[in-house]
Amino acid sequence: MISDDLIEEIRSRADLVEIVSEHTRLRRSGKTFRGPCPLHGGKGPNFSVDPTRDLFKCFVCGEGGNVYGFAMKQLGMTYPEAIRWVAGRVGIEIPEERRWEEAEEEPFARLYEANAFAAEWFRERLLDPEEGLVARNYLDGRGITPEVRERFGIGWAPESWSSFADSARTHGINRDVLLQLGLLKEGKREGDVPYDAFRGRVIFPILSLSGKVVGFGGRVIGRVDEHVPKYLNSPESPVYRKGEMLYGLRWSKGPIRKEKTALVVEGYMDYVSLAAGGVENIVAPLGTAMTAEQAELIARYAERIILLYDSDQAGLKATFRSGDELLRTGVEVLVATLPEGEDPDSLIRSGGAPALRAHLDNAVDLLDRKIGILEKGRYFSSIAGQRRAVDSLLPTVRATSDEVLRALYIRRIAERTGVAAEVISNEVGAPPAPGSESGPDRAGSDHRGTGEPRRQGGRWRGSAEGGRDQSFSGGQNSGATGARGRPSRGERADAVRLGPERNVVLLLLRDEHFVERAASRLGPDDFRDATWREVYAEILRVHAEGARDDGASSLEALLRALNETDALCAQELLDDPEGENLTHPERFFEENIREIEIRNTGITRLAEFTGEIEKSRGDEAAELLRRKLDLRREMEQKGEVLKMNPTRNSGWERSDG
Ligand code: CTP
Ligand code: MN
Repeated sequence: MISDDLIEEIRSRADLVEIVSEHTRLRRSGKTFRGPCPLHGGKGPNFSVDPTRDLFKCFVCGEGGNVYGFAMKQLGMTYPEAIRWVAGRVGIEIPEERRWEEAEEEPFARLYEANAFAAEWFRERLLDPEEGLVARNYLDGRGITPEVRERFGIGWAPESWSSFADSARTHGINRDVLLQLGLLKEGKREGDVPYDAFRGRVIFPILSLSGKVVGFGGRVIGRVDEHVPKYLNSPESPVYRKGEMLYGLRWSKGPIRKEKTALVVEGYMDYVSLAAGGVENIVAPLGTAMTAEQAELIARYAERIILLYDSDQAGLKATFRSGDELLRTGVEVLVATLPEGEDPDSLIRSGGAPALRAHLDNAVDLLDRKIGILEKGRYFSSIAGQRRAVDSLLPTVRATSDEVLRALYIRRIAERTGVAAEVISNEVGAPPAPGSESGPDRAGSDHRGTGEPRRQGGRWRGSAEGGRDQSFSGGQNSGATGARGRPSRGERADAVRLGPERNVVLLLLRDEHFVERAASRLGPDDFRDATWREVYAEILRVHAEGARDDGASSLEALLRALNETDALCAQELLDDPEGENLTHPERFFEENIREIEIRNTGITRLAEFTGEIEKSRGDEAAELLRRKLDLRREMEQKGEVLKMNPTRNSGWERSDG
């Protein structure tokens, strides 16, 4: 038996547009894709694929369904065959039926098992009459009832350096696995035993869509100071990629679908608090700015997003970055403005769900919210201010994949600033061509053709020229997705999957003494993500210059040299507690550098194959193609290249024919 969760997981990872595109030519048309029906062989564009719902429908022959239905109808597979086929494409291995029960077959079984053990252990500590008393009092005080605690598996990590480690050892849980998961931390000196990472914290287990515990968040209940951060989160691990999942989606996908609206809150504390207050169509990113992949994930369930962050400077920044990222998926994005000093948690606790609903009803469109803030900052009272205002609004317009909305946005900006709509429209640049795989700037670009055209005279268009309030003009991945509007799904996934690149930068930002060694192994061109490439290049440059000029710290020099978006991303890495949790910087360095080296070698080999295939004929070409596909499959499994996407993706795959 293949579990329902797994079937759902596979389905949700598959790209229906991509799969259908292998059988017919689809073009974007508003929120859906249209083309001739491959099932009945029609000629007109009567076949529609809805990428948000992952459903297809032919208005002539009436066939419709999800990706499994498509595989069955188009390729004549049985249902189980369809599941296995799609699983293969998305890189999920389904164990043979008779081995299904054997945990050893699951590659990460030991990690999941250790996480499950920990979650249960924390849960029991919270329930312990004595041990869990302070934590229960704290949670009661925050309105998180015993019922709610049970629902979200909330636990307690006692104030102890070793009680978790001791208990895990007694239960035979592997120590290295616990270290890898960040549940234990390596002692400072040789011979020290690992100690409990979570101490004196309320624990929120983080569950995948299919219900497995992948990580933990912990909120301290005692005093917070520079040595004791309020929140501590598990580091990334093979089972936990923060940028690819959302806290709570497992529980709220039903309510979100039903209401067609998702509320995005800052973190698990707000999530649980709102859920306790009866508001359930919520999700929270996991301590990072919203990534493209997270945005895609929400867009699968919601048509409308309401961003519910604090109204302070940090909250606004998060609002606008997340907002632009979400717009790219084609959803409607609204912003709820909370009263000064309030957050969703305080609001629902003082006024209950009705108080929150009132603010949701007053939520305004993302662009209007931006304009409102610029107005408050009196940007429209001078020519120079208007110029900057237009610049800071452009990224949002560019991010808008819905053409009608785009036109409305342009008109609104024109009205507010008095700049002609045509001029703004030119500044924005061409909207993504329908079925943008045929866009001229896409074909023939190399594999990192990701937004560089935006660069003008050494500065990014739309970046702030000293305007204080304009810090919201960029998004985390805008360096990698950028000005041409909606990038393909693969391209966006690309931007967040480049873990090793991010990791190398993270380490170099923390510890300058790795810079020279990194420089001897990787050049900026080895980086695929535009942002990390830029930050890396600047690190090398600033480091090389540092020897001569030390007016300011090299870190400051670095942040000053970067454009705003890249500087924000760098700052985010600097703030990421993962940096502090690095217990083996040497190993971390080596592993991540290696990973990039290997990936790039593989990519070079793929490109070489492509060249050879073009020059060869018949059997020889077939053999080369087979070898190339083998290599790519191997690399896909290791996550070194993206899932293949022969019809829509750009890059080094194009010449397959
Ligand atoms: N949050 C987070 N990561 C952090 C800090 C905060 O994910 N490093 C999330 C929290 O989970 C919470 C939201 O941001 O959902 C709001 O944070 P904050 O108000 O600072 O946390 P509280 O626990 O509510 O603290 P306080 O009682 O001081 O309001
Ligand atoms: Mn709070």
